[in-house]
Amino acid sequence: MAKPRILVAQAIFPETVERLAQHFEVQANQDDVRWSPAELARQLADKDGALTTGAQRIDAALLAACPRLRVVANMAVGYNNFDVAAMTAAGVQGTNTPDVLTDTTADFGFALLMAAARRITEGERYLRAGQWKDWRYDLLAGSEVHGSTLGIIGMGRIGQGIARRAAHGFGMEVLYHNRTRLPPALEAECKARHVGKDVLLANADHVVLVLPYTPDNHHTIGAQELARMKPTATLVNIARGGIVDEAALAAALREGRLAAAGLDVFEGEPAVHPDLLTLPNVVLTPHIASATVATRRAMANLAADNLIAFFDGRGPLTPVNQLPGADEFLYQNGL
Ligand code: DGY
Repeated sequence: MAKPRILVAQAIFPETVERLAQHFEVQANQDDVRWSPAELARQLADKDGALTTGAQRIDAALLAACPRLRVVANMAVGYNNFDVAAMTAAGVQGTNTPDVLTDTTADFGFALLMAAARRITEGERYLRAGQWKDWRYDLLAGSEVHGSTLGIIGMGRIGQGIARRAAHGFGMEVLYHNRTRLPPALEAECKARHVGKDVLLANADHVVLVLPYTPDNHHTIGAQELARMKPTATLVNIARGGIVDEAALAAALREGRLAAAGLDVFEGEPAVHPDLLTLPNVVLTPHIASATVATRRAMANLAADNLIAFFDGRGPLTPVNQLPGADEFLYQNGL
């Protein structure tokens, strides 16, 4: 029987491609060519499955051009690049990579918080520029992290990981806001208190965003929300760029209405809002929260495992949609 045909849409670990090749006829974009949506559709037109990263949009127009396609495995926990309704309507299974990146991403959220609140990258630029001449009582004085109040918006697995680090490691008071409240035992373990968004914004010394991007979450943090935050506060976004109104954030940082920010994700990435690039009090990183070698390997392997399990008839391991006739799954694959 002919092997299913798979497209690997961006370069990944060569050993993952080799593993896939034991099961499938694989075409892998190991040269990492950035395809336009039309080119992606052309490459996928004769494929049964795909391994994507968050950078390829799978929508109704692409699905109409790719009638053979049955499954798309995203090598990311976020899957806002999928039009899930269109995929389900077209009978295309989507999968993502939850769990394997939770702690790595939570570590990075904390690193960004520390870097922004304690002005680490600003200090490094200052030193490298030869500006460090002597000790000064207020040289690059930032805001306290330990013992302060942390607000987490989006309390999935990564949010919980950040809460544990904050409460247990840094003695912080943790407030969280989430669509659904955590079970009491989990709240107790994370030492986190569920509050409304406005209460969180007004009381937190630092706010970390870890909610999935959906049209409803577009600009969850805009001018109004920034105005509710303390002027001494830090804002960290490791979720998706569209959650923050970058122009409003840049204005707040420039005008001293917010002390600092740490951003790993951007609305038009890889483009960054030009105003942010001019500001000293924002730490900017290129969407690397899950980027350790071990975690990226685990993500690639889970995406490959999803494709293998799907075509074996075992069903996807971490589905994001339920196709008609498939076993019901408990939706638990968000951030
Ligand atoms: C994720 O897994 O969603 C990360 O943001 C990497 O894209």
